[in-house]
Amino acid sequence: MKALVLSGGKGSRLRPITYSYAKQLIPIVNKPILFYVLEDLASAGISDVGMIVGATKDLIKAAVGNGENWGIKVTYIEQKSPLGLGHAVKIAQPFIGNQPFVMYLGDNILRGGIKSFISEYGNKGEDINILLTEVKHPECFGVAELDQRGRVKKLVEKPQHFISNHVLVGVYIFNQKIFPAVDAIKPSGRGELEITDAIQYVIDHGGKVEPFLIKGWWKDTGKTEDVLEANSLLIEGIEPRISGAIDQLSKLSGRINIGENTLISNSVIEGPVIIGGNCLIENGLIGPFTSIGDNVQITNSKIEKSIIMEETVIINYQNKIVNSLIGRGVKLKSRQEKPAVHQLLLGDHCSLGIYE
Ligand code: TTP
Repeated sequence: MKALVLSGGKGSRLRPITYSYAKQLIPIVNKPILFYVLEDLASAGISDVGMIVGATKDLIKAAVGNGENWGIKVTYIEQKSPLGLGHAVKIAQPFIGNQPFVMYLGDNILRGGIKSFISEYGNKGEDINILLTEVKHPECFGVAELDQRGRVKKLVEKPQHFISNHVLVGVYIFNQKIFPAVDAIKPSGRGELEITDAIQYVIDHGGKVEPFLIKGWWKDTGKTEDVLEANSLLIEGIEPRISGAIDQLSKLSGRINIGENTLISNSVIEGPVIIGGNCLIENGLIGPFTSIGDNVQITNSKIEKSIIMEETVIINYQNKIVNSLIGRGVKLKSRQEKPAVHQLLLGDHCSLGIYE
């Protein structure tokens, strides 16, 4: 079976990071989100992947290459503008051909993997199978209403009244019936060809859509809090390993992974924490649930439950940095003399919360 991975889109909810970077490459426990997707596909036996790319195509191509790191072959499919998941399916038809295929959103992470989802496809004679999970607040998601036999009857985007708490995870298996559906539907109010409308079209034209319920956790990393939550969930499983140097004044506890050429000096590290290579952490308090990329310097500062991406420098930051997602090459510096001032250079759509 071929796969279609969606790595285009606008990423507007993750601005300003996504002005200069691909959402799918944001690191979770120091590994891009998209790499979890490719690992999952490879371990489910998929070797032929079409990758939808948009404005960030060069970044995605540089990170993924031809896919040989995962033992897969990646074919890039350029989407000129992010016109929706249904549009992505439409432009992928020449790559897909006539076989059923799995579509995986490049910003989704699933704990349990998709092996049995793929191997069981077709057992009930279905045209489409959609991965569902149960959540407490279905009103924030695409919801599936099932009929008495348990087949999908209706899909509703962010329902205002309770229908069911089975929500769509961003992984689907389609056969060729999806192609006339994406051709027939019209753009939604937000100007996109919605995949939910295309699936509904298949149902309304006699197609069979079966659900596949997953038990393990799933995260759609569309917003900052989701990215941080995915990081907190996955970091619990890191392999403890210390490759850098720790001086005698530092105290480490819990699961900690520290990369090569990193120096930890006079600092407290409370796991789970991952720190990349070539970092300097001095007089710092790091963790728990914190991922720090390569070439980062943290001096006289405290960081908790955050992701700090590569090349960033944080010096003398007075308040503890918590629940934060900080991009690449950011400089956060303060001076210890009075008067205390904030001197800011913030791009569009930055968010700065100072809670004294
Ligand atoms: P979404 O999170 O639904 O959309 P988005 O990435 O544009 O983000 P936002 O809503 O914050 O503006 O997209 C899910 C995945 O599908 C994500 O990996 C991006 C990808 N995608 C495409 O490849 N093409 C598209 O046209 C769209 C809308 C999304």
